[in-house]
Amino acid sequence: MTALTVRTLDPDDWRLCRAVRIAALTDAPEAFGSTLSHEESLSEERWRLRLAGRSQFLAEEDGAPCGLVGVVPVGPRAADLISMWVRPASRGTGAADLLVRAALGWADEHGFAEVRLRVIEGNGAAERLYARHGFRREAASGSAEAPGADGEFTMVRVRPAADRVR
Ligand SMILES: CC(C)(COP(=O)(O)OP(=O)(O)OC[C@H]1O[C@@H](n2cnc3c(N)ncnc32)[C@H](O)[C@@H]1OP(=O)(O)O)[C@@H](O)C(=O)NCCC(=O)NCCS
Repeated sequence: MTALTVRTLDPDDWRLCRAVRIAALTDAPEAFGSTLSHEESLSEERWRLRLAGRSQFLAEEDGAPCGLVGVVPVGPRAADLISMWVRPASRGTGAADLLVRAALGWADEHGFAEVRLRVIEGNGAAERLYARHGFRREAASGSAEAPGADGEFTMVRVRPAADRVR
């Protein structure tokens, strides 16, 4: 029986965050809007700034890093969910659900009524994961028949007004 846990990373965790992010970009370069070479080139200061400007969650399986997700405020009531990744050996274990729950819990607590993310067309595992947590494709971003020009679509999760933190 394995123990899955999630914790937040702060700027002092920048080396760990960098290592997991590089593992993610090496494993699934097509899934992200950034590149391995770009993120390998970032300085300690840039990593620290990143971690100061977002809420970054790390999943661990029996104490070993196994996944990552970030939430970045993009307005007073809106945030983006980014950098979602679970290492191949930990897929299908519930780590992805734990990470999304942690990210959405943080967004809810901080009054971000709308959470958005981008998915590459054809990434069914990611789309089903997000749909399970209440995300829906944004109509304007295209459909399976007419995807966005960049091959990505947007998913949005809007909390019902009655649930919102006032
Ligand atoms: C997207 C991602 C985080 C989802 O994590 P996950 O652990 O695969 O998510 P789930 O627990 O929902 O499992 C995904 C599916 O694989 C199945 N699965 C079960 N065991 C599995 C295993 N050992 N390996 C892979 N998939 C497995 C699950 O049953 C599930 O099926 P479903 O989608 O039909 O419900 C993960 O696949 C990933 O990191 N992919 C690469 C990066 C990426 O695409 N990030 C998202 C950018 S938007």
